[in-house]
Amino acid sequence: MKRPSKEFKEIIPEGEEQLFESYIATLTTLQKAKSKKFGKGRLLHRKGIMGLNARLEVLPSLPVYACQGIFAKPSTFPVIIRLSNGGLDVKNDSAPDIRGFAVKVQKVSGKSVLDGSDQTEQDFLMINHSKFSVARAEDFLDMLVALSKGPLALFSTMAKRHGFFGMFGALGNLSKLMGKKFDGFMAETFSTAVPVQIGDYAAKVRIRPLDNEYIQADKSDLSLQVKKHLQQKDITYEMQLQFFVDEETTSLEDGSKEWPEEESPFITVAHLIIPQQPTDGAAFDDLQAQVELLKFDPWNAITEHKPLGNIMRARKAAYFASQKTRGVA
Ligand code: HEM
Repeated sequence: MKRPSKEFKEIIPEGEEQLFESYIATLTTLQKAKSKKFGKGRLLHRKGIMGLNARLEVLPSLPVYACQGIFAKPSTFPVIIRLSNGGLDVKNDSAPDIRGFAVKVQKVSGKSVLDGSDQTEQDFLMINHSKFSVARAEDFLDMLVALSKGPLALFSTMAKRHGFFGMFGALGNLSKLMGKKFDGFMAETFSTAVPVQIGDYAAKVRIRPLDNEYIQADKSDLSLQVKKHLQQKDITYEMQLQFFVDEETTSLEDGSKEWPEEESPFITVAHLIIPQQPTDGAAFDDLQAQVELLKFDPWNAITEHKPLGNIMRARKAAYFASQKTRGVA
């Protein structure tokens, strides 16, 4: 086991920002085409499954390296959650997909990581995977552009990147990722997959259910499991941090690397509680409409939780463009 380290360093290739910017026009065209079909919405994670009110309770007696930013002292923050399917399309929940769990922590006090202005929100965007699908953002962006052009373009992009035979392995990995078994939002662990700063340190953030008894998910409507459970009791997750120890073991720049728990174990820093609340009726419908219009963005962050690494840097331009296109930025 290694100790959390402050010795992390981003390696930013020359021209990277321009490279990311060069994808934006194509992504915007793709988003507009999807919006024609499904109505105004996000480029990715278009299908919102549920919006919920929650609270985050930061635990006392954390190790010094974890007492940073919103985890600095025991506190309770109001939270808004958006559960989603990851895809570009609105499909039945039974279709294979990545699942999103976006958390907006409110009433925090800090400075914006983007421009140093006062900042009262801290977002953590999580998926049901502990690492991202590709090492570099360009691979993901190329795939997204190719996907928009149909299966042939996807084959040709993958073949260019991985060679003819390597392409089949890469496509296999992709379908394994999308098809990962999913027992519902109450049953699974969700991770930021790529790291953020924790003050002087860096970590991946994850949540996992504290209560192992859960109602079986209805695969064709994932909201039902959450609703049924909330009719009986609160839902609680523990929020955990897995710290950067060194670039070799816990890479900042390669988003596809699993961080080994033997070298860097998770520590619990907070509880995320979704209290019982209305799951139908006018107030619930209002919340759903409001959450669809919110911006969840890893760069909606205080300086102590700056997003780190190549994948995170690419997301700065992509999320802003998607928000502009759907008219919320
Ligand atoms: C280069 C990599 C990535 C790109 C280009 C990208 C792009 C996007 C875009 C454009 C949106 C819609 C934003 C909006 O209009 O509000 C989105 C949403 C989302 N992304 Fe990513 N993403 C990337 C990587 C990731 C990673 C690593 C995660 C892991 C946690 C992630 C999790 C999410 C989630 C949970 C949402 C839904 C947020 C919501 O509910 O509003 N993304 N992504």
